[in-house]
Amino acid sequence: MSFQAPKGTFDWLPPRSEQVLAVREALVAPVRRAGYGYIETPVFEDTQLFARGVGESTDIVSKEMYTFPDKAGRSLTLRPEGTASVVRAVLQHNLHNGQLPVKLWYSGSQFRYERAQKGRYRHFWQVGAEALGSEDPAIDAELIVLAAQGFASLGLREVRLLVNSLGDQTCRPAYRAALQEFLRGLDLDEDTRARIEINPLRVLDDKRPEVQAQLGGAPLVVDHLCAACKSYHEEVRALLTAAGVAFEDDPRLVRGLDYYTRTTFEFLHGGLGSQSAIGGGGRYDGLSEMLGGPPLPSVGWALGVDRTFLAMEAEGLIAEAAPGRVQVYGVALGDDARRRMFLLVHELRQAGVSADMAFGGKGLKGAMKGADRSGARFALILGERDLAAKAVQLKDLTTAEQTEVPLAQVVDVLKGKVQ
Ligand code: HAM
Repeated sequence: MSFQAPKGTFDWLPPRSEQVLAVREALVAPVRRAGYGYIETPVFEDTQLFARGVGESTDIVSKEMYTFPDKAGRSLTLRPEGTASVVRAVLQHNLHNGQLPVKLWYSGSQFRYERAQKGRYRHFWQVGAEALGSEDPAIDAELIVLAAQGFASLGLREVRLLVNSLGDQTCRPAYRAALQEFLRGLDLDEDTRARIEINPLRVLDDKRPEVQAQLGGAPLVVDHLCAACKSYHEEVRALLTAAGVAFEDDPRLVRGLDYYTRTTFEFLHGGLGSQSAIGGGGRYDGLSEMLGGPPLPSVGWALGVDRTFLAMEAEGLIAEAAPGRVQVYGVALGDDARRRMFLLVHELRQAGVSADMAFGGKGLKGAMKGADRSGARFALILGERDLAAKAVQLKDLTTAEQTEVPLAQVVDVLKGKVQ
C-alpha cells in the first residue's frame, strides 16, 4: 500500500523547499526591521475563537474549517488564519496593557477546506504581521509599505496593490442598508438573496458574470464614509504616496473575513490565474471586543507564501539550477578510510564548512557521481594508501584539478578556499 498526501496538500521537497524558506524570510525581513516581535500560537484553537472572530457568515467559518472534538469533548479547529489567535494571545497575556501598538509577526501553516486548485490549497503557509492598539493612519500605511517592500525585495514586478475603506460603526450601517435596498431589487438566486440579509458586502465580491452584470449601479462605500473615516483614509493614501508605493483605489474591494473596518487592501499578481491574491489585510477595530476584550483598534496583513512562490515562478524568478547542497563532498575507499572520512567531515562542519560524504560503501565511480550531484565545489578522496601517507586528495570539481594535502592541514586549506 502506498499513501498520497491528502487532497489539497502537497510536499515541499529540496531544492524548492530551500527556495521557499528563503521566500518566507524575505517577506518578513521588512517587519522585523520595523520592530515587530515574533509570536507563535497553537495550530489549533477553541472553535468559538474563529466562529466569533472570523464571523459565522463567512465561507471560512460556514464551510471551510477543520473542526474536531478532542478526547475530552472540546471542539477544536485547525487555524484557518492567524489574526484571531494573535488577538486572543495578546488579551490572554495582557500585552495590550504595555506599550501600544503591540507589533507582532508570525509564520505558519493555515488550514481551509477549500476547493483545491492551483494556488488554492487546504494546507498553506502564511506570514503575517499585526499592530494592535493604535488608531493611527501611519500604522496602516507602515504595514502596507512593509508588505510592498517584501514583495519588491523578491524581485516581483507584476504586483498590484488595491486599497479601500469599509467605514466604521458610524457610517457602515447606513451604507449597508443602502446596499441591501439596491441588492433586493436585483434578479438573484435564493442563496444570494439570503446573503443580502446576512452579509451584503460579500455579494459585491460575487465573481459570477450574471451577478456582476447587475452590480454596475451599486452604491459604493467610499460615497458613504463619515468625515472621520474619509480623512483617515485620505491620510493613509497620502502616506502611501509619500513612500512611493503605487496603489489603485478599488471601491469594491471586499475581504472574505468579517472583522474589517476602515482600511482594507489586497496585493494581486497577474501570473496566478483566478487565485490572484498574494496577500491581504486591513484594520479590525472591533475584533478585540468581539472576543471579549477591551477596545483595541488594530491593523494587519497576511501574505500567502505558496502563492508568492507561484508568482515568482511565473516571473521566472526561481532559479532552475539548484544551488549546491554542500561545499565539500568526501569519498573514502575502504573501512579505515571511511572511518577517518567520517571524522574529517565532522571536523569540516565544526569549522563552518558544509560537508557531506558518500554513504553505503559505494565504489569510486558511484561515490564521485554523488559528489557531482551534491553540487559541491570540492571532493576529498581518501584511499588506504592516502591514509598511510596521512594525506588526502583534494579535487576541484569545476576544474578537475587534483592536489594532495596533508590530512592535518586539509580543514584549514578548505576553510581558506570556500570563504
Ligand atoms: P486572507 O485574505 O484570508 O487574510 O489570506 C491572506 C493570504 O493568504 C491570501 O491573500 C492568500 O495569498 C493566502 N491564502 C488564503 N487562502 C489560501 C489558500 N487556500 N491557499 C493558498 N493561499 C491562501 C487573512 O488570512 C487575514 N488573517 C489577514 C489579516 C491579518 N488581516 C488582518 N490581519
